[in-house]
Amino acid sequence: MAVLITGGAGYIGSHTCVEMLNAGYELIVIDNFSNSKPDVIERIQKITGKTLTFYEATLLDKEMIDTIFSNHEINAVIHFAAYKAVGESVEKPLMYYQNNLISTLNLCEIMDKYGVYNLVFSSSATVYGNPDRVPITEESPLRATNPYGHTKQMTEQILQDLFISNPMWSIASLRYFNPIGAHESGLIGEDPTGIPNNLLPYISQVASGKLPHLNIFGDDYETNDGTGIRDYIHIMDLASGHVKALEHVLVTTGVEAFNLGTGKGHSVFEMIDVFEQVSKKQIKYSIQERRPGDIAVCFADPSKANHVLQWSAKRGIYEMCKDTWKWQTQSGKQLIR
Ligand code: WQD
Repeated sequence: MAVLITGGAGYIGSHTCVEMLNAGYELIVIDNFSNSKPDVIERIQKITGKTLTFYEATLLDKEMIDTIFSNHEINAVIHFAAYKAVGESVEKPLMYYQNNLISTLNLCEIMDKYGVYNLVFSSSATVYGNPDRVPITEESPLRATNPYGHTKQMTEQILQDLFISNPMWSIASLRYFNPIGAHESGLIGEDPTGIPNNLLPYISQVASGKLPHLNIFGDDYETNDGTGIRDYIHIMDLASGHVKALEHVLVTTGVEAFNLGTGKGHSVFEMIDVFEQVSKKQIKYSIQERRPGDIAVCFADPSKANHVLQWSAKRGIYEMCKDTWKWQTQSGKQLIR
């Protein structure tokens, strides 16, 4: 019996493939490389010493999904494939709604056709918008503030309605906080195209000299040092959370959301300090205006995932920055063979 991983060549998808292969699962991976590179598939296999079956395809092609399900005995799906840039979603909402929603509708239709009802869905803490209080629990109101976040919130609603229509469905929606870091091998990691939107890849490229300095978006927030606070979680902890969520949906039915975070918040200046320690490079920065849509403080209450999934994040920000730096300085040099 195999597990289908959609978007398995992406940042979170590839690290989850490593953990799933290490856990002994047979994987079928689909990716259209819209936000990832083909050699990631070989690197996943090099890291684990195991093979997977790969299809270069988009979930917008329903016939292709049907073919994959007819070719393989699939008993569960981990669904990552989606566009995920907040800023881009504001500029191109239709592209986001079409891609993220139609992909999921196609996938669920074919899953239902083949009687496959075990699903782990890649949601996001962005569904919470600007929280009334922190730490954020799964009961916090959902009020996404951008089209990307709306697609995640709408998909969670679609999945709730699916279960109501057919109680065979067993679904875990995982709400990620701020995934950063890389596999310890330095072979896979976050590989944004163009100028990074997110803090850590940006800092990493400043440390490597690829970018001149970091723009800090506001130092006048109501926080200890004035900069934004986030719940950064090591990508390998996030990946292991997916394995635990898969094991959960295989033995239950229903629809559950889980926060995947560390439960700790760190500011921009704290992340700069740690990155300077691990890279031994000075991170030059300039204070800019706040970024529209940014919130001051966001971190998780991960106790539901701790108890129900028997999962917790193990790695701290030093290891997150160390592994990011290793990926930054080695990824170009690592040859597959
Ligand atoms: C972190 C902090 C910025 C860049 C985003 C998405 C969210 C999720 C994770 C998908 C903030 C500050 C950042 C920079 C800066 N993605 N910052 N200069 O915005 O918390 O979350 O990524 O699910 O949906 O919204 O992450 O890394 O962009 O920002 O000062 O160049 O770093 O203001 O305080 P964010 P981020």
